[in-house]
Amino acid sequence: MRRDFQHSYAQTAMHILRFSDLCAQGKAQGQRVFIRADLNVPQDDAGRITEDTRIRASVPCIRMALDAGAAVMVTSHLGRPTEGEFKPADSLAPVARRLSELLGREVPLVADWVDGVQVQPGQVVLLENCRVNKGEKKNSPELAQKMAALCDIYVNDAFGTAHRAEGTTYGIAEYARQACAGPLLAAEIDAITQALANPKRPLVAIVAGSKVSTKLTILQSLSKNVDGLVVGGGIANTFMLAAGLPIGKSLAEPDLVGEAKAVIEAMKARGAEVPIPTDVVVAKTFAADAPATVKQAADVAEDDLILDIGPETAARLAAQLKQAGTIVWNGPVGVFEFDAFAGGTKAIAQAIAESSAFSIAGGGDTLAAIAKYGIEKDVGYISTGGGAFLEVLEGKKLPAFEILEKRAAS
Ligand code: 3PG
Repeated sequence: MRRDFQHSYAQTAMHILRFSDLCAQGKAQGQRVFIRADLNVPQDDAGRITEDTRIRASVPCIRMALDAGAAVMVTSHLGRPTEGEFKPADSLAPVARRLSELLGREVPLVADWVDGVQVQPGQVVLLENCRVNKGEKKNSPELAQKMAALCDIYVNDAFGTAHRAEGTTYGIAEYARQACAGPLLAAEIDAITQALANPKRPLVAIVAGSKVSTKLTILQSLSKNVDGLVVGGGIANTFMLAAGLPIGKSLAEPDLVGEAKAVIEAMKARGAEVPIPTDVVVAKTFAADAPATVKQAADVAEDDLILDIGPETAARLAAQLKQAGTIVWNGPVGVFEFDAFAGGTKAIAQAIAESSAFSIAGGGDTLAAIAKYGIEKDVGYISTGGGAFLEVLEGKKLPAFEILEKRAAS
């Protein structure tokens, strides 16, 4: 099984046309280049961007295209609008402003662009929210063909949307004269390949979050490949139940205990391990100011809520992470938003930062933890993907890569 898993990643990395190569060969000069980026960023109620990582991550591809002398069109979705019903809240206008600042040049925003776009070599325009176009979500061939006709080169640089087979992530790639991966998409798949297909061992994955059910396929897939599978949050509670430990009134999914046991057994059969917490931090209520108590895992009372791993467990996991060759991190191991229950996640973050392992991290909460503990520079690769990163961990081939491979082979 492990060979299949590795094989799919190795293939993905090998057979995709890269935009950087086209540019280096002078093939983008004077060409109309259509870049699908993922500029789906969070905004506050007043429409202000609260986190701009994805916009910053889109800049190298746009610069690459401009430097290569292309006429550049960029688009993205923002949220999940109703197709055919544009509302001001759906507009990429705040993104255009931030992109203008980052590029140091005006980036005009173009509405109603499907039937034609005016843009000259050396210029860049932002095409309004692509999910407002009818047929985008369902990947209508008619829309895809129209969009493909706008460009000579289609560049997918939207890793965050690579798990969606939509008009701008899949259909356009089928019909465009040339279809390739932008530098962000390429960097993401290179990092994933390094972490999962050709890992320096031991390979340790941390999979945490509220529910086993949402990450069961990830746990099952990783259990065939990793040397250590660290579980945290509500997921760890279900695994503690599977190990016969009390969890009081903590969040867990008792009906998935059988699945958790199967993951533990699958790991054991390969000589690998799912470390179960030996101590935990508990409270009587879920609140930032709830008094926190450290307990041995076997001593959790009926009215306890487990909100973090304990210091003994954290130290054991930190030691394991420091010895790892590769670390994959998705999910904080405790309620790190509350300081009293942040110790486990902080210890994990610091151990990753201090480890010489190649580390890759992804997912919204994980990125928030990385920012909170200021370890951005010490993580080998931080993915811009949320759902896309999770699907990669599941071992799935993402539609965006699948179509780019198909095009590179044709
Ligand atoms: C994300 O935020 O994970 C991506 O932009 C994908 O958005 P979607 O889940 O609406 O497709």
